[in-house]
Amino acid sequence: MVPSFPRTDLFCSFAASGYPSLSLPILSVAHTPLGSNPLRTLTITLRTMASNHLNGDSHIHHLPKKPKLSSTSLITPSEIQSEFSHHDPSVARINNGSFGCCPTSVIKDQQVLQLEFLRQPDHFYFNCLKEGILKSRTVIKQLINARHVDEVSIVDNATTAAAIVLQRTAWAFAEGRFDKGDVAIMLHYAYGAVKKSIEAYVTRAGGCVIEVQMPFPVNSNDEIIHEFRKALERGKENGRKIRLAVIDHITSMPCVVIPVKELVKICREEGVDQVFVDAAHAIGCTDVDMQDIGADFYTSNLHKWLFCPPSIAFLYSRGSPKCLDLHHPVVSHEYGSGLAVESAWIGTRDYSAQLVVPKALDFVNRFEGGIEGIKKRNHDNAVEMGQMLAKAWGTNLGCPPEMCASMIMVGLPASLAISNDSDTLKLRTHLRENFGVEVPIYYRAPKDGEVGVITGYARISYQVYNTFEDYTKFRDAVNKLVCDGFTCNLLSN
Ligand SMILES: Cc1ncc(COP(=O)(O)O)c(C=O)c1O
Repeated sequence: MVPSFPRTDLFCSFAASGYPSLSLPILSVAHTPLGSNPLRTLTITLRTMASNHLNGDSHIHHLPKKPKLSSTSLITPSEIQSEFSHHDPSVARINNGSFGCCPTSVIKDQQVLQLEFLRQPDHFYFNCLKEGILKSRTVIKQLINARHVDEVSIVDNATTAAAIVLQRTAWAFAEGRFDKGDVAIMLHYAYGAVKKSIEAYVTRAGGCVIEVQMPFPVNSNDEIIHEFRKALERGKENGRKIRLAVIDHITSMPCVVIPVKELVKICREEGVDQVFVDAAHAIGCTDVDMQDIGADFYTSNLHKWLFCPPSIAFLYSRGSPKCLDLHHPVVSHEYGSGLAVESAWIGTRDYSAQLVVPKALDFVNRFEGGIEGIKKRNHDNAVEMGQMLAKAWGTNLGCPPEMCASMIMVGLPASLAISNDSDTLKLRTHLRENFGVEVPIYYRAPKDGEVGVITGYARISYQVYNTFEDYTKFRDAVNKLVCDGFTCNLLSN
């Protein structure tokens, strides 16, 4: 069944919701992602806002109660379109999660900085670089509610941040502060590169790694908490010490928002030495509050959901004066000056992505409700698009809406016969090359005795540039494959 969103539907669903002010459609037109038919996307936003209003959803409080009719300072649909006009128009890009996006205005700001460096590198190095990076760290400190800017360092990406934290663990083994067999805990769904990093720095140093088995599809936080407690029990068997827990804030594949605050609290109660949260996707996507979450180390990319150019991440280290016990894996003149200073000079290279954070924030603040407004609308739209696809294909979502942020897992029809990880890559390539759809796919192996179950889930993202048509293009592509009797084993390697 193909849902249609005629113009009248906009006003009918709006009126039926009892939403308080008729000024809302006009306001939302100005802040809705623009496609060939902005009214469709607008309708999604309005429907979600209306239903949130009826359901008393607490997130709605982030938005002004009585929005203004119009404001020249807020971004318009055509401005959004032009900010992302460098995106390939032939591709329905519903995979913001993998590489993020950067608007034209921020790219231009970055290019100005790159030219400033090339114009007089010594002046830039001696007079601008450190100060600029400190400015970005200060903006990040405020965004994440850290206590002090010294707790915040800027690094290239979450992969680098993981190496920094895990290298510290390796030294603790090498220098005899940890004993062989001491434990590190990680989620089964930890990001592949981070798992390898744990292998390289912890297992190799003599540590024992325990995986938290995670259910998928998942129905509640309690299921995750239950498995986490079980893993901690296993970790503590025979009097072993758990030195580190590595917890994702939003897992990559399959994507689920993990109850990190609760898990950090459990770690404290159970005597886990330190907690590192890999929140590669979190900032701009879900709530990121260092004092509330309470982890020892926390990293998030700013190039995924905060509109910074590739690549930039922050690494937060709780209460650590200048993060003196953390070191960048690339050693420079600044070794021993504290991680923030070390990582602000790791040799000659392009630092411009680290300098444009204030400009990216200017972009964010052109949207109604700033970062909170963007997060809320992206979440609502991701859920609505996920539900639309699941309904069209007769499948289900991978988790309830409250366990996702701006990405959600949607079951693909079982008839596609996705039978292993290689099938997911082949199908993804097929969708890109033959249908102009970019979406990552996850293989979920059937459990013992399960027959005819969904074995493939697509991870769809929603970012400000997405339109309703991006998702209908995906829906129709899959419907055509099903209709044609396609199965993954028809694709060659
Ligand atoms: C959970 C998680 N950790 C780490 C990473 C690595 O991020 P990056 O490639 O920016 O280092 C990702 C990337 O998607 C991720 O999802």
